[in-house]
Amino acid sequence: MGVIEWATSPFGQDVPIHIAWYLIWVAGIAGLGFLVIHAIYMLYFAKEKEFALSPPVTAALPAKIPRHSFAARAFHWVMAAAMFVLLFTAFLPKVGIQFNWVAYHWIAGLVLTASVIFHIVHATFYMDFWAIWPDRADLEDAWRRTRRFLGRPAELPRKFAKYPLENKLYHAAALVTGMSVILTGVFMMFRVRTALFPRNPYLFGDMTWGMMYVLHGLAGVGLITLVIVHVYFAVRPEKLAITESMLFGSMSREFYLKEHDPRRWVVEPPLPAERRGIADAD
Ligand code: HEM
Repeated sequence: MGVIEWATSPFGQDVPIHIAWYLIWVAGIAGLGFLVIHAIYMLYFAKEKEFALSPPVTAALPAKIPRHSFAARAFHWVMAAAMFVLLFTAFLPKVGIQFNWVAYHWIAGLVLTASVIFHIVHATFYMDFWAIWPDRADLEDAWRRTRRFLGRPAELPRKFAKYPLENKLYHAAALVTGMSVILTGVFMMFRVRTALFPRNPYLFGDMTWGMMYVLHGLAGVGLITLVIVHVYFAVRPEKLAITESMLFGSMSREFYLKEHDPRRWVVEPPLPAERRGIADAD
């Protein structure tokens, strides 16, 4: 039982046609399995998080720490909506719930593509581009956390920058799988009838098309696991402050001071009222 389904082309060549659909169940069970194991670990074994002391914050911080701008939140929720439509339209028919899914699928695919293009431009020119990539301190702290987890001596890890290492790694995994479905999906649109451009199934040979469908499917089932894990963490009680910031834009000062290092994620103190008036008028 392989992970790829094969067929014979008109020229007698064995060509891949798509992934074996049992991988949908593998991905779903992997996501749910992770969730159950993590929840048991957190309930019975995890100790309270410990961090090295960070210097006291002298500047007056606002009660609500701004975390996600309106544009960043709008991107996140548009992308999330497109992602759910894509997952349901792609995989429900494969598990026996039949409907005309292709048009809904590629339209959601274009919404996802447009939202990701927006995000890349926004993150490159208007956000702190490097905030989401692991840095040296993340790796050192991951090493310390691992040693402490194994009961070995190690210094306490520092508090996090804006994004903990786990979030950064998740972002990287979503980037790889997301770009894979988008790049392959845009080409796959030449295989179906759309109102946008003429169909051209001869753009590539059977082998190339097959590999493209396989990559689209592998990244697609990968996204099942990633989305399950993401939603699970979003609703975990200790992460609700982060989820709230994706809804309303900010998190409480208490949570910021508890988990984040003000040197690694610098938050400007609010302007005094009279300066604010000047700034608003700028
Ligand atoms: C969460 C993201 C996505 C998932 C899980 C996903 C999954 C799938 C799956 C499983 C198929 C069936 C392939 C087959 O029969 O071998 C498919 C087909 C297709 N996908 Fe996606 N996809 C995603 C994103 C996209 C995007 C971003 C686009 C376009 C920009 C797209 C365009 C298409 C098209 C046009 C087809 C139909 C191909 C055909 O019937 O010949 N998909 N997708």
